[in-house]
Amino acid sequence: MLHRFLGILLSLSTVNLIPSVWVALGKSRKRAFQVPHTQKPNPIFEAYSYCNIPNHTEQAWEGHSPVDYKLLSVQVMIRHGDRYPLYSIPKTKRPAIDCTLSISRQPSHPLLNSFINHMGKGGQGHWKPPLGSVSRLPSHSACEIGELTQTGVVQHLYNGQLLHHAYKQHSLLPTDWSPRQVWVETTGRSRTLQSGLAFLYGFLPNFDWSKLNVHHQWSTLFCGSACDCPARNRYLEDEQRRQYQFRLANDNLDRTYTDMARTLGLPTRELRAANPIDSLLCHLCHGLSFPCVPSGNGGTGGCLTMAQFAVIQQQQLDDEVDRTRVGLYHKYATLAMYPYLNRTAAKMERVAKASRAGRKSRVGGEEVFTLSSAHDVTMAPLLSALGLEDARFPRFAARIVFELWKSPSVIQGQTKKRAREGDKSNVTDGDLFLRVLYNGEDVTFHTTFCHSHDHYMNQPLCPLENFLTFVRRDMFSIVNATSYKEACYRQSG
Ligand SMILES: *[C@@H]1O[C@H](CO)[C@@H](O)[C@H](O)[C@H]1NC(C)=O
Ligand SMILES: *[C@@H]1O[C@H](CO)[C@@H](O)[C@H](O)[C@H]1NC(C)=O
Ligand SMILES: *[C@@H]1O[C@H](CO)[C@@H](O)[C@H](O)[C@H]1NC(C)=O
Ligand SMILES: *[C@@H]1O[C@H](CO)[C@@H](O)[C@H](O)[C@H]1NC(C)=O
Repeated sequence: MLHRFLGILLSLSTVNLIPSVWVALGKSRKRAFQVPHTQKPNPIFEAYSYCNIPNHTEQAWEGHSPVDYKLLSVQVMIRHGDRYPLYSIPKTKRPAIDCTLSISRQPSHPLLNSFINHMGKGGQGHWKPPLGSVSRLPSHSACEIGELTQTGVVQHLYNGQLLHHAYKQHSLLPTDWSPRQVWVETTGRSRTLQSGLAFLYGFLPNFDWSKLNVHHQWSTLFCGSACDCPARNRYLEDEQRRQYQFRLANDNLDRTYTDMARTLGLPTRELRAANPIDSLLCHLCHGLSFPCVPSGNGGTGGCLTMAQFAVIQQQQLDDEVDRTRVGLYHKYATLAMYPYLNRTAAKMERVAKASRAGRKSRVGGEEVFTLSSAHDVTMAPLLSALGLEDARFPRFAARIVFELWKSPSVIQGQTKKRAREGDKSNVTDGDLFLRVLYNGEDVTFHTTFCHSHDHYMNQPLCPLENFLTFVRRDMFSIVNATSYKEACYRQSG
């Protein structure tokens, strides 16, 4: 697992994305939300937003388009929901969290009961090995390491339901959707698989096991058969060295670890290695007080404190800023996420071609919805590769959405001509557009490929062409190359 090495697992980003102001095109256009944050972020506030405690008031901009645009396809990447810690703090009691699902426990969701019942019939689904043997519901009364919690399930039931409503008016999926219209992929972890199922249960008009195929991605980078890339690994190693040096230089962090270790009666090194912030975040997200130990066990005894937590958390925020400044992570991320972006681009192009040809029954035209159920170590590099380096670190149940839209002029005026031209016509003829959303916020014009695009002029959305050119060539300029192969296999130095 990459995150063991990378250690960016829980870092959060400092700077809020500035929400793009929506141009008043449609009749019912709502106002874009808050003003950008300008103060220095509060580490405790950031931590709570990382928890993503489910509530009903979330604003989401998925499915918003200028009037008469047609939604052709949607590709979603999610991070798994709230989970039990991957690390435990030595000498302390593990947080007492029940991972069984129960509608009498909070947070709950109106769909939770039927979800639980439905998951019991999961044997009818089509599972690519080794997914068939992964449990489809969290089930331990004392959570296991990394297990999805009820909070995590509820987060994704909400996510799914939210997107269901966002796309309903666009008739993205019919009630009798076909297996080809829905592509689902996940890593082999139970928390990603279960998160994906909860999302789909909230999202699909009719959750039908017999139609569901679930594909396996063995790499957390979702790189399929194109994972080999020596240069990517070199950038990662360089980035880890930077991260290590940056940590060493922080005296306040050092003192804090020493204090904590003294309380617990541990060598400081052992405490650091136990990555205490992972467990502390879990306490915070679940409203549990931080662990305490009695004195006499080699330590002074006492409780770990919010002030100590804030120091570690602040260091993670500072690290994100340094990481962006140095740029090694961005290079790593570009190579890491190319295979996923290339697949995403190819899929959009197939959908676009099929739509152009006006033959709905073609394979490409049926690729309406894709769900990739992933990790922070997938989503963080994806954000970086897209140029969204100021985005917050992916919280639990974070989502990135790619929407492909077609403008009305073509739908009305040029369909016949294009149908005749069929596949020979240029896919990127200027009537296809992309929207990118992160946790419901439209971040399209913060991406590298649409940053300079003037969306106040004649085109309100980002041309698909920009994205295709970026993925196929321009994104490699950051590593002084023009293709993935060249970038990956060129000798260093
Ligand atoms: C709900 O979430 C939104 C943002 O996601 C936040 O601004 C708001 O304070 C939350 N409300 C409650 C009651 O937690
Ligand atoms: C990128 O996508 C194209 C299909 O559009 C495919 O032929 C090619 O093999 C992909 N390259 C990589 C490195 O994944
Ligand atoms: C399609 O458009 C792109 C960008 O404008 C151009 O580079 C390419 O040659 C065009 N292809 C065809 C077949 O017209
Ligand atoms: C970029 O690559 C080209 C050819 O591969 C090489 O000549 C040039 O020196 C490289 N530039 C940098 C800054 O590495």
